Amino acid sequence: MTRVFVSQEIVEDALEEFEGSGITVDLRRDHRPLPAEELRATAADYDGLICLLTDRIDAEFLAACPRLRVVANVAVGFDNIDVAAATRAGVAVTNTPRVLTDATADLAFTLLLATARRVPEGDAFLRAGKYTHWRVKQEQMGVDVFGATLGLFGLGQIGRAVARRARGFDMTVLYHDVHRLPAEDERELGVTYVEFEELLARSDFVSVHSPLTDTTRHRFDAAAFAAMKPTAMLINTARGPVVDEAALAAALRDGVIAGAGLDVFEREPEVDAQLVQLRERVVLLPHLGSATGTTRREMCRMAARNVRDALSGKRPESLVNPEVAPREGTG
Ligand code: DGY
Repeated sequence: MTRVFVSQEIVEDALEEFEGSGITVDLRRDHRPLPAEELRATAADYDGLICLLTDRIDAEFLAACPRLRVVANVAVGFDNIDVAAATRAGVAVTNTPRVLTDATADLAFTLLLATARRVPEGDAFLRAGKYTHWRVKQEQMGVDVFGATLGLFGLGQIGRAVARRARGFDMTVLYHDVHRLPAEDERELGVTYVEFEELLARSDFVSVHSPLTDTTRHRFDAAAFAAMKPTAMLINTARGPVVDEAALAAALRDGVIAGAGLDVFEREPEVDAQLVQLRERVVLLPHLGSATGTTRREMCRMAARNVRDALSGKRPESLVNPEVAPREGTG
């Protein structure tokens, strides 16, 4: 019998994807991650695993689960999975790109606007009964987004979707990425490639859209903040550890940069205590990037299809390690 384990609560419609496949699915309905040793012990009896970004799939886990043939992450990012170790073990790894691009780009833009225009501060002010009259020098005076310069660090699908939104705000869009787009694509998207230093020096808003890798970890550190404009704001909807959170808190506190809108954190769900204390021009969200009902459903369905296909000998639609050829097995 071919068996799949779902490590945490998902949108259960997704299980329809297994109908008629002959695959047995065991769904754990708890929304809290299992401790590592329990996840290892449970997953050892399965051929496929659907997991979330809060599950750590490392070499130790893979060694304990020799029967496993596919790990499907319900996320586009897969830094929770040791892909090299999975490839060595012959385990296919899949993610959920595309279906969450627009929801995440919307949230990045929401954070940018909310930080620039100090939306949460205005909301808190009004609820506290402090809004007594309209005044020219409003307490929550913000900065213009339209016409400003946006620097995108990473220009994958989500970065490009943010660039398209920025066009509607008449923004100048700069980007830095390890891959440079062909000139025609840059023109069509209305983006200009610059070196990292120039991105920092020229942008009014810097928005992070890179994956977390050894190269991007702490790419935004004290030196990067010092190279930004003192009026600039940092937006991060990608992965927390791309930013040195303690250095960011210090830069905000000391006025090295003016604001930050963060949806992801270095030691999530923990947030640097100093950051939490900063309320002016600092907006903090609980990793809401892809959190719309439709998007989360599509992510779960895609992960389910990925596992089903990998276990049926087909190439899954979003295979991260194509070196691992899918193989049908009896389980
Ligand atoms: C991802 O997909 O990587 C996000 O962080 C969760 O939507």
